[in-house]
Amino acid sequence: MTEGAPLISLRGVGKAFGDLEVLRGVDLEIGRGESVVIIGSSGTGKSVLLKHIIGLLSPDSGEVLVDGVNVHSLGRGDLRDLRQRMGMLFQYAALFDSMTVGDNVAFALRQHTNWSAEKIRDRVAEVLGWVGLSGTEEKAPAELSGGMKKRVGLARAIALGPEIILYDEPTTGLDPILADQINDLILDLAERLKVTSVTITHDMVSAYKVADRIAMLYRGKIEATGTPDAIQSSDNAVVQQFIHGRAEGPITSM
Ligand SMILES: Nc1ncnc2c1ncn2[C@@H]1O[C@H](COP(=O)(O)OP(=O)(O)OP(=O)(O)O)[C@@H](O)[C@H]1O
Ligand SMILES: [Mg+2]
Repeated sequence: MTEGAPLISLRGVGKAFGDLEVLRGVDLEIGRGESVVIIGSSGTGKSVLLKHIIGLLSPDSGEVLVDGVNVHSLGRGDLRDLRQRMGMLFQYAALFDSMTVGDNVAFALRQHTNWSAEKIRDRVAEVLGWVGLSGTEEKAPAELSGGMKKRVGLARAIALGPEIILYDEPTTGLDPILADQINDLILDLAERLKVTSVTITHDMVSAYKVADRIAMLYRGKIEATGTPDAIQSSDNAVVQQFIHGRAEGPITSM
């Protein structure tokens, strides 16, 4: 499945916000071309973990390596080059409200390529097609439903053809059919374009479908990792409670 050195390594990553210790030594390796899904309760630090990979947050301790390079040792220019190799779908779409859908999707293409207007237009149309939103270029984000905004965010994340895609809850708020189309898109990008991906989801159907490997974040650390089959048959009580969504068990809500 994966060969050689991992593409992404988190080593002992710790992060606190004031008194709140969110990550307490996260160790996780993601191979080239691998699809890893991160699960865990709300507020455990999944989004925080993802933001460390793309360099939006810096660890207090430990390190994050991408392709052997410590993300947090990079100067601005090198960090920008690295980010160009990554696409991120933010949990809360984060579209530019003053720009049309087409301009939102074209944003990174205009910033990071010297493509002609025509080539950019074609690429925008292509990726909007992939997320089921053909012909919406002229719409304003305010005119879109939540699920449509999420899909525009996805189109924007994949527009540059990144090597690494970070998906923060790509199917949340989508109906089951659309959610499955997004799962298929994630698989398709992984298979056709050999993308390496890290996906956060609460949707176990989606997790089992898109993951080569699932990692569960619990109390600031990776509690368990394994293939979807191994996770389903895990004898870890924390894992079992989470994947079956049981109120009773070792995981207590805040
Ligand atoms: N920039 C920040 N400043 C202060 N606290 C933060 C910041 N970002 C996240 N947190 C806190 O860190 C904790 C983990 O947040 P995070 O968004 O990673 O959770 P999550 O696992 O993604 O949850 P959910 O499933 O609800 O999206 C939360 O308590 C949150 O309030
Ligand atoms: Mg989150």
